[in-house]
Amino acid sequence: MRNDETPDKNLWRSLEEYKHEHLYTQVFNNSLEGSVFVANQIAEGIRNTQTLSRQYVLGLATGNSPLKIYEELIRLHRTEGLSFKNVVTFNLDEYYGLGPQDVQSYTYFMHSNFFDHIDIKSENIHIPDGLLSRELLPEYCLRYEELIEKFGGLDFQLLGIGRTGHIGFNEPGSKHDSNTRMVNLDYLTRKDNAFAFDDPGEVPTKAITMGVGTILRARKIILVAWGSSKAEIVAQTVEGEVTYNVPASFLQHHKDVSFVIDKGAAELLTRIQTPWLVKDCSWTPELTRKAVVWLGLKLDKPILKLTDRDYNIHGMSTLASEKGVYQTNIDVFKYFQRTITGWPGGKPNEDDTNRPERAKPAKKRVIIFSPHPDDDVISMGGTFLRLVEQGHEVHVAYQTSGNTAVADYETLRFIEFAKDLAKELHAEHLAYDQLIKDISIGKSQEVTPKSIRKVRGLIRRGEALSACRYYNVPDSQIHFLDLPFYETGRSKKNAPTTADASIVRALIEDIQPHQIFAAGDLADPHGTHEVCLNIILSVLDDLKNQAFMDDCRLWLYRGAWHEYGLDEIEMAVPLSPDELYKKRMAIWRHQSQKDGVVYQGDDHREFWQRAEARNRAIAKKYDQLGLSEYEAMETFRRYYF
Ligand code: F6R
Repeated sequence: MRNDETPDKNLWRSLEEYKHEHLYTQVFNNSLEGSVFVANQIAEGIRNTQTLSRQYVLGLATGNSPLKIYEELIRLHRTEGLSFKNVVTFNLDEYYGLGPQDVQSYTYFMHSNFFDHIDIKSENIHIPDGLLSRELLPEYCLRYEELIEKFGGLDFQLLGIGRTGHIGFNEPGSKHDSNTRMVNLDYLTRKDNAFAFDDPGEVPTKAITMGVGTILRARKIILVAWGSSKAEIVAQTVEGEVTYNVPASFLQHHKDVSFVIDKGAAELLTRIQTPWLVKDCSWTPELTRKAVVWLGLKLDKPILKLTDRDYNIHGMSTLASEKGVYQTNIDVFKYFQRTITGWPGGKPNEDDTNRPERAKPAKKRVIIFSPHPDDDVISMGGTFLRLVEQGHEVHVAYQTSGNTAVADYETLRFIEFAKDLAKELHAEHLAYDQLIKDISIGKSQEVTPKSIRKVRGLIRRGEALSACRYYNVPDSQIHFLDLPFYETGRSKKNAPTTADASIVRALIEDIQPHQIFAAGDLADPHGTHEVCLNIILSVLDDLKNQAFMDDCRLWLYRGAWHEYGLDEIEMAVPLSPDELYKKRMAIWRHQSQKDGVVYQGDDHREFWQRAEARNRAIAKKYDQLGLSEYEAMETFRRYYF
């Protein structure tokens, strides 16, 4: 199940490969596998205490990270009879100023995502009270600590990690022996958590949290982290020194703590990012490429100028001796040179032996799958335009309606416009007043009313149509799939079902494409890209025996959140300044996603700015490595099925 061969907990410290790591870290293929592992650890603890007829004291976290763990525990309860009757829980934290009725409160979160679905006794649930008056707080915090002790202390504490390095809401500056108390939230934390609120300004500035000391007193601790947005803080916590600036680093002082993370969150660990620096490697072509481009970029030297000494003093002497530096440089250089093509659909009448795409058929049927209605132009707008202009039959399939990412003020603007227009035309306009009311109703509910979702979906649909028309794609080739898994009206989506797969399957079978482009961007903070990709992969797996599939290739692109590592790229499509400008124009058609969008994260730049910066940065790296110099580039990785 595990992705890497993480050795036994008693062994890892003695191994060279782990010498940079101060915390026992297990890397799983994906968040689901990691979550199932953690859920099983908790279930085992609960069952053991049941045999001993005592209570199991469980410290819990909220946020995105533990969600799949709760889902698995609920499944174990429903299908395998795991009972929580002997479980006593203590939550890490709660926003100050929010109560159980507030949909953004952690109390609400815990009930709707976990407690309401298991047989825990309500008197055994403890979550800090966010509504207490200031005067009562100090006493209340002391009682919270005492209560944990009264139950015998925490058997297990589940943790996520914030990008500030917080555990619980212990932000940088927290002391190693701090107890439950009121804290100020870091700006980055408030930005990261803003998605649950309609307006980022509504995120509370304070919270009540267990202290670092409270957490460290737990007998066993597991911290989970998923996705590359956590990679930097994970590497810093696991490999860095213990410091107040990274409160999670205090975990290094605990004797039974593990980090359970996925590949994305692990990507900046030394043993994964630059394994040749910590162990002898077996030099596969992929690893060779990774090491050589790393060396070139580190030394700011073109590949063909790298020397024996450069290899030797950077942990690559075995590579140098196996194949010789001269030959390795040439091989890697040629590989990257061949990734560059201005013909993403294949260059007609040319020898295609070393090109990323086939020359034939000269006119290909192409489907660009776009998880949200703007990922197509943000992530591959230049390539999209080239495919159209080079005469391919380009279809775009928008997988979800994207309706969670339209702000209320934008929705209101459109409804009022439609209402005023109806008035002008003397048509029925009363229905619009109800819609306006629905916006206010939605503000106090976790789930956005269906009527409002419909309007938001239409807003995004109009924008996508406009962008495609700007690229001269006929309307008949624009497909809105509105996959059902997405239609929950909140940021947490349903698990995909066969209903989602059959919609995607019908489209692929109908078009019988030669090329499919899909988002392989697994860093999207809310997981929609990952679900959308998995649906496509499962459909392609089902279809693989159909004749048209012999001539179909799948290319993955990365979205607004994350770029491929240079070594992962298999096709790089250069963009001229003019093409980059047209791409920007197409992104601008997505007006509801401009000017501080709902899911912006901590990056204040607009999507077009992020896309251009990324496309330029990749072109610069190609240039730095001594390949050709271009204005910008879009990159792709082929998926072999
Ligand atoms: C939640 C908590 C926080 C989160 C952390 C990560 O109760 O205390 O420390 O664990 O902010 O949040 P997610 O999981 O949403 O990335």
